[in-house]
Amino acid sequence: MSQTPAASSAAAPRRLYGRAKGHALTARRQALVDGLGAALTWPDDGPLDPADLLPGFDRHVLEIGFGAAEHLIGQAQRDPKTGYLGIEPFLNGVAKALAGIEDHGLANMRVKRADARTEIERMPDGAFDRIYLLFPDPWPKSRHAKRRFVQADTARSLARLLQPGGILRVATDVRVYADHALPILLETPGLNWLGGGPDSWRDNPADHIVTRYQSKHLGDIDPVFMEFQRV
Ligand SMILES: C[S@@+](CC[C@H](N)C(=O)[O-])C[C@H]1O[C@@H](n2cnc3c(N)ncnc32)[C@H](O)[C@@H]1O
Repeated sequence: MSQTPAASSAAAPRRLYGRAKGHALTARRQALVDGLGAALTWPDDGPLDPADLLPGFDRHVLEIGFGAAEHLIGQAQRDPKTGYLGIEPFLNGVAKALAGIEDHGLANMRVKRADARTEIERMPDGAFDRIYLLFPDPWPKSRHAKRRFVQADTARSLARLLQPGGILRVATDVRVYADHALPILLETPGLNWLGGGPDSWRDNPADHIVTRYQSKHLGDIDPVFMEFQRV
């Protein structure tokens, strides 16, 4: 399963679906994007090792599509000895993450406005202790299924990025997405499902932080949490 991280993200341009930005940023948030954002991000090209970006941390954790960053900021606050990387293409979400970093004085986070499908190809095997993919855009129509983040290739990349024993947590409240993602993840070499039965995945995990998005209950089922361990 080992593979060399892509030397350049420019080599694999992909079409990104969904919003890139929303309402105009406040002056403070724009200044954060231009200042702190530039300081706390990473280069656009080349191999990318979280241990080089955030050296001296016991572990590294990745959150993909962090939205308004409540979960990412909350986990990073709880766990200052762990380095957190967040990837989100939506400018306003990145600006919120930066505001959270400044408000809480966090020294253990890096965020990038980007498509995570490209960024994860740049990172080395076993880079992360934990990866979160929480309530990814569901693209419920079958003709949009290829837009869903979980595909056979991204699932293989997520498995590759985890250290042995590491955890992948995928959450959704959309039935079609659960039905799409679970079989793919179950068939991904190196991932072992920790779900013991149909009910065990319905409770918020003990360490979970509920975001505003989750609390809006926009999906058609109660949230399910698919947890996998890297073997
Ligand atoms: C439905 S929202 C959920 C946000 C957050 N995870 C939460 O639970 O509150 C999905 C997020 O995934 C982001 N997203 C979509 N495609 C992505 C991609 N290819 N890479 C990274 N993030 C992506 C969207 O911009 C959006 O913020």
